[in-house]
Amino acid sequence: MTQGQSVHCLRHGRCKKDILKGITMIFQYETTLETLEKMRAESMAAGGEKKIEAQHRKGKLSARERIDLLLDDGSFEEFDVLKTGRGSAIGDEGVCPGDGVIAGHGNIDGREVFLFSQDFTVIGGSLGEAHSQKICKVMDLAVRVGAPIIGLNDSGGARIQEGVDALAAYGEIFHRNVRASGVVPQISCIMGPCAGGAVYSPSITDFVFMVQESSYMFVTGPSVVKTVTHQEITSEELGGAGVHAGKSGVAHFTVPNDILCLREIRRLISYLPSNNRQQPPILDLRDPPDRIDPALDFLVPENPNQTYDMNVLIYSILDGAEFMEVQPGFARNIICGFGRLGGQTVGLVANQPAVLAGVLDTEASFKAGRFVRFCDSFNIPLIALVDVPGFMPGPDQEHGGIIRHGAKLLYAFTEATVPRITVIVRKAYGGAYLVMNSKHIHCDVNYAWPTAEIAVMGPKGASEVIYRREIQVAEDPEALLNEKMDHYRRTFANPFLAAQRGYIDDVIFPRDTRQRLIRTLQVLDGKDVKGPHRKHGNIPL
Ligand code: HXC
Repeated sequence: MTQGQSVHCLRHGRCKKDILKGITMIFQYETTLETLEKMRAESMAAGGEKKIEAQHRKGKLSARERIDLLLDDGSFEEFDVLKTGRGSAIGDEGVCPGDGVIAGHGNIDGREVFLFSQDFTVIGGSLGEAHSQKICKVMDLAVRVGAPIIGLNDSGGARIQEGVDALAAYGEIFHRNVRASGVVPQISCIMGPCAGGAVYSPSITDFVFMVQESSYMFVTGPSVVKTVTHQEITSEELGGAGVHAGKSGVAHFTVPNDILCLREIRRLISYLPSNNRQQPPILDLRDPPDRIDPALDFLVPENPNQTYDMNVLIYSILDGAEFMEVQPGFARNIICGFGRLGGQTVGLVANQPAVLAGVLDTEASFKAGRFVRFCDSFNIPLIALVDVPGFMPGPDQEHGGIIRHGAKLLYAFTEATVPRITVIVRKAYGGAYLVMNSKHIHCDVNYAWPTAEIAVMGPKGASEVIYRREIQVAEDPEALLNEKMDHYRRTFANPFLAAQRGYIDDVIFPRDTRQRLIRTLQVLDGKDVKGPHRKHGNIPL
């Protein structure tokens, strides 16, 4: 009964008993409101001022500050504010406010996202049963409504006091990560410790951000390393952002601090659809689709052994020269990332002749293969910019599994059903030519610049094989080799033979690349290809 209702009773001469009952109810109601306010305040205070200050001293934001920066102002709606654990075999963790994680949903540029933010100020953000249930609830809802899931990780790992319940709790998250894969984008952000089996949830997700100097990821920490291998190593050296961005390939983006990290997540979301049934959002950057760039006609050096930077082409063709590169510090011989053409999100995969001559090796194949599969899962058209002299030769690569890693990229491009366009800029040799989204593995439209060289192998290698006997007995072997190489180049190392066969749809002027790509994307907009019925393919992992 409300206050208004009790006054109504008095006016109508209801009995004293009724009035007293009403007053009691008002009192109880107000008490409940106060209780709710108190409980919410406790939850908001989390681990308390001192622990939040400690967090700030480490250069980290609090879990709530992170949410505020990530989402549009005032859009956050929290679930399970009052949820606590049910206790554990040791300690009294059952009463911890929010159980060390904040979960809910909100908007990024007006689009719904679901998220959780682990709160290091509450039992070190460690993950127990209730903590996991909060995360699982938002993951389930995200999949049901078709919205991205963002995890802000800052946790001491499995809550030791909860024993096997904590392990079971991780398992529930892993299960959902896998079920959500390819259904909604999943983004993990490592903003503190992430150790032990806990690393596997982020690594299943599509993109991992790491904050430099305040985050680390490893399966076993420095103390275990010391015990087992007697090696002294710091957390940063073992699993800091630099290691995972440059060596292991676990991190896709590294950022100097929390604030920039949250801004970059917003940027990434701007390129992506909310789920696998939607197209990526269109964003008009007011860059004319018919803009040409005459400087591109001079990008490729006359000397085929001379290098150039593929980024010049990438930034020239994309809307507003905006490109979000994925894993920029890992396998730099291949460039992957998101941009827009005519407002439409595209995934770019480009060989980088400025690094290892743009060769494909194990790491480049793995990096690009995973990127291609992400784009295909989420309806993002693929564009390959090709200048590849082949696969990296040598025992290191062979023994490191270049066969199975190279096969990943071949598999990924071949199975992709999104619009696929290729531009052969210069070298396109051998198996690497085929792998890089060639016509023969069913790309939709492929173009070549006049500088393209499409052949089984480079002029030198080829001439040494096919003219070996002649060269061996020649008076001047070097002169004969050069002559044969010139002849080979004129015959094979150009795009014209391939164009005559119809393996190239057109040889285009470099300056027109942007407008040709945009026009082709429009044509391919209605592409609808269904694969054969099967449970799933068996990509060579
Ligand atoms: C319970 C934990 C905890 C954990 C930290 N805390 N980790 N409580 N379970 N896993 C608590 C601490 O007791 C402390 O409580 C508070 O969180 C803050 O921790 P500090 O140690 O004071 O902070 P700091 O010095 O910054 O060190 C952070 C840390 C350290 C490096 C993460 O706490 C640590 O080493 N924790 C254990 C990490 C770990 O081994 N986790 C298990 C990984 S294996 P008070 O009350 O003092 O404030 C794993 C398996 C997952 O996770 C398997 C999934 C399949």
